[in-house]
Amino acid sequence: MASYQSIYDFESYHKTAFWLAASKLIDWEKPPKIALDDSNSPFNLWFPDGQLNSCFNAVDRHVIAGHGEQTAIQYESPITGMEASLSYAELQQETAKFAGMLYEQGLVKGDRVIIYMPMIPQAAIAMLGCARIGVVHSVVFGGFASAELAKRIDDCKPKLIVSASCGHEPNRIVHYKPLLDAAIKQSKHKPNRCVIYQRDSVKAELVENQDLEWAEAIEHVVPADPLPVMSYDPLYILYTSGTTGQPKGVVRDNGGHAVALSWSMSNIYNVHQGEVFWAASDIGWVVGHSYIVYGPLFAGCTSILYEGKPIGTPDAGSFWRVIEKNNVKVLFTAPTAFRAIKRADPDGSFITNHNISSLETLFLAGERADSDTIKWAQNHLFVPVLDHWWQTETGWSICANPVGIEQLPIKLGSPYVPMPGYKIEVMDDAGTPVAENILGSIAIKLPLPPSCLSTIWGADDVFIDKYLTKFPGYYESGDAGYIDEDGYVYIMSRTDDVINVAGHRLSTGQIEEVLASHPDVAECAVIGISDVLKGQIPLGFICLYPDSQRPALQISTEAVALVLDTIGRVCALKSVVIVDRLPKTRSGKIVRSTMVKIANGEPWTLPATIDDPAVLDEISDALIKQLK
Ligand code: COA
Ligand code: AMP
Repeated sequence: MASYQSIYDFESYHKTAFWLAASKLIDWEKPPKIALDDSNSPFNLWFPDGQLNSCFNAVDRHVIAGHGEQTAIQYESPITGMEASLSYAELQQETAKFAGMLYEQGLVKGDRVIIYMPMIPQAAIAMLGCARIGVVHSVVFGGFASAELAKRIDDCKPKLIVSASCGHEPNRIVHYKPLLDAAIKQSKHKPNRCVIYQRDSVKAELVENQDLEWAEAIEHVVPADPLPVMSYDPLYILYTSGTTGQPKGVVRDNGGHAVALSWSMSNIYNVHQGEVFWAASDIGWVVGHSYIVYGPLFAGCTSILYEGKPIGTPDAGSFWRVIEKNNVKVLFTAPTAFRAIKRADPDGSFITNHNISSLETLFLAGERADSDTIKWAQNHLFVPVLDHWWQTETGWSICANPVGIEQLPIKLGSPYVPMPGYKIEVMDDAGTPVAENILGSIAIKLPLPPSCLSTIWGADDVFIDKYLTKFPGYYESGDAGYIDEDGYVYIMSRTDDVINVAGHRLSTGQIEEVLASHPDVAECAVIGISDVLKGQIPLGFICLYPDSQRPALQISTEAVALVLDTIGRVCALKSVVIVDRLPKTRSGKIVRSTMVKIANGEPWTLPATIDDPAVLDEISDALIKQLK
């Protein structure tokens, strides 16, 4: 049996051979002879001469191989009390009909479709249906509000939008149709059509000449066959938060993505055809794209699509119930889900009510996994609990413990070691690699391995500017951390304004833009502070215009509501603190990191470049007053 190290080294010295061998994990219309074309670096092309179809690889080929009756997607919705199984044969029919509908609506390869949906099987059908004919999908997380949706509509200019009548959250129904209509009203670009899936619980009112009901739209269409596309043709765009309020559209190709994900399923997760894989995330995030939809289906697994929460739907035993019922072999979720379960059921008594012996490994990602949570999960599940690190930009893990190759020794606090193709360096600010155990910015040497972003949609300059400029020849991850003496990587924090709220990536800059739009707000700052459940939550500071006459409490309540209504409740902003001034350096930069320490009650030192030290005391006093 090859070791992790031998495989990693083999890739380093024989990149072409490694990835051409990996490319055989999928079916190609035209198999590639070339692994990588880096003649136009950084716009590298993986398997540039290969042609394939991602939907064919995720669906049809398993039917052809005789697995048509196997469940492809198992829908578990404790929130609505529904469950359903969709076999590979059924998924083939449904994606073919959806793709046929797209043709009928005049879409062709390269056109874009936005998918704004709750966690129902139709969301996966829509994604795969697009992929079937080379239409580029862009899923917008259902927890985002109209303004965020409108930004994405204007950026990727979809010809068609797919949505549903509603989503179900524990305490309310989310009516998507009014949100969608408001977004279309706000956006400059208008889609030709919206296809609305009517759920039993809510029937949305359709807009004439704009909306079509899903069931009617696909009723009489001619099912479409998979259309081979070039490996480098875009499969999807997924928007993610950066420094500003303008989300970045990460572009993912077809071939590199299919190869890397297929490799990861057997080598990282150790799951194979016929086994059950569950990523308890949302299709609106990269984890949902890679490991609810594409990865498990490329591998011929059964994938669980879970519409519910780890607790409260109805209780902290939901995960164990789903694992027992479906013989889940691998569970993948964010640490915050386990923090929620641990808090609701500290003794793990719900676990003992279920037979979860099918579970072999728990993978965590999306945010830093704290040791307490990992230990709790280990002690109650009796399986390896393995953190791994990745980003929307990469689409699969940069670092992991690849149990499909060998399980490396456990180290709490580390998401383990680089996967093949990722050459990681920790840099100081001048771009010089630092020694082991020294904290710095984490950079990845170019070329990035397959499945990593090929560019930012419509903005090659942003791709170069944001990721490739600070450390020439490297991709700047935006994360800070260190590598220990055994080569284990540790991710400690972000180097930019991104915060991680319950595993959801948000930009403080984006929240600041909304706060600043309030008519009474002259200036503002948003920081991410520690939260026992969600890891981080945002906290806003606002300075009012001197002539503002309205009650402060009213303004702060309005400001919070404005953020939740504009970005979505998922950003979990609970309060803003009104202050007279913001602490700044002499060059005018707000000293956010010191504000974070003050708000977290951690020791802090006066930044050398602070303009007026008294402002930090004012911040501290305002926080104490607010807490009272
Ligand atoms: N559509 C509409 N609203 C949504 C939504 C969606 N798809 N997803 C979340 N929201 C809303 C919630 O209703 C909630 O609104 P509220 O504050 O009015 O109650 C708000 O956004 C925050 O949601 P959430 O982050 O889910 O927090 P929560 O307090 O409801 O639950 C956890 C906390 C820990 C249980 C939850 O965050 C969780 O299950 N996390 C799992 C991690 C995860 O999936 N990460 C994704 C990346 S791997
Ligand atoms: P997203 O693009 O939404 O997947 O968020 C990616 C970011 O989440 C990373 O850049 C990290 O900041 C954080 N992240 C993801 N996984 C981990 C992990 N295992 N440990 C620490 N941070 C993580």
